[in-house]
Amino acid sequence: MSETVVRPAKLSDLPPITGIYNHYIVHTPITFDLEPVTAESRIGWFREHSEGARNRLFVAERAGAIVGYAGTGRFRDRRAYDTTVETTIYCAPGSTGLGIGVELYEALFAALAGEDINRIVAGITLPNDASVALHRRFGFTPVGTFTANGRKFGRYWDVLWMERPLALPARGRRSRAKKV
Ligand SMILES: CC(C)(COP(=O)(O)OP(=O)(O)OC[C@H]1O[C@@H](n2cnc3c(N)ncnc32)[C@H](O)[C@@H]1OP(=O)(O)O)[C@@H](O)C(=O)NCCC(=O)NCCS
Repeated sequence: MSETVVRPAKLSDLPPITGIYNHYIVHTPITFDLEPVTAESRIGWFREHSEGARNRLFVAERAGAIVGYAGTGRFRDRRAYDTTVETTIYCAPGSTGLGIGVELYEALFAALAGEDINRIVAGITLPNDASVALHRRFGFTPVGTFTANGRKFGRYWDVLWMERPLALPARGRRSRAKKV
């Protein structure tokens, strides 16, 4: 099996990043975007998630292909929210359950260590056992669930919000188990 390389994203990664995201737009309620997007239309999103100390974007590459990405962006616009960031993470279909999510979050949170961030939050459309497990592994705890928070595919979906502080208390995070 080829090795996974996790590295900061470059603008040239935006087309494959967008391809992964479009899969989840079209086929799942995981994102509440309803229509596929173009890489061009995502340049602002890319810059917002990759430029600055609090906002970082990483990609996972295997055998030269982008198989996942994870990053942080602003939670809400108002300035007092500066110290809260919201995560995003997507693995390519066919590349889930292989430990890539763990590798991406390890790189992301290592890069954020020491930045002026107080809370990291994640919104998860339910059900999504893999995402809940990943966030728990990285020290996120549930805050609450917005019910019927979005409508997609002709029905309403609940969204679980989870949060963690930037720095976890000692033993707050398990080390990565070796995947076979
Ligand atoms: C959610 C996602 C990023 C997790 O990344 P991943 O590479 O698949 O997960 P990993 O293999 O690194 O495993 C991380 C944890 O999830 C668990 N997990 C993985 N797939 C699972 C599944 N299908 N059901 C339940 N748990 C699962 C693993 O056991 C592991 O938990 P552990 O630490 O308790 O052992 C990935 O599955 C994905 O991209 N899913 C589709 C998009 C998505 O849901 N994005 C998140 C939106 S909030």
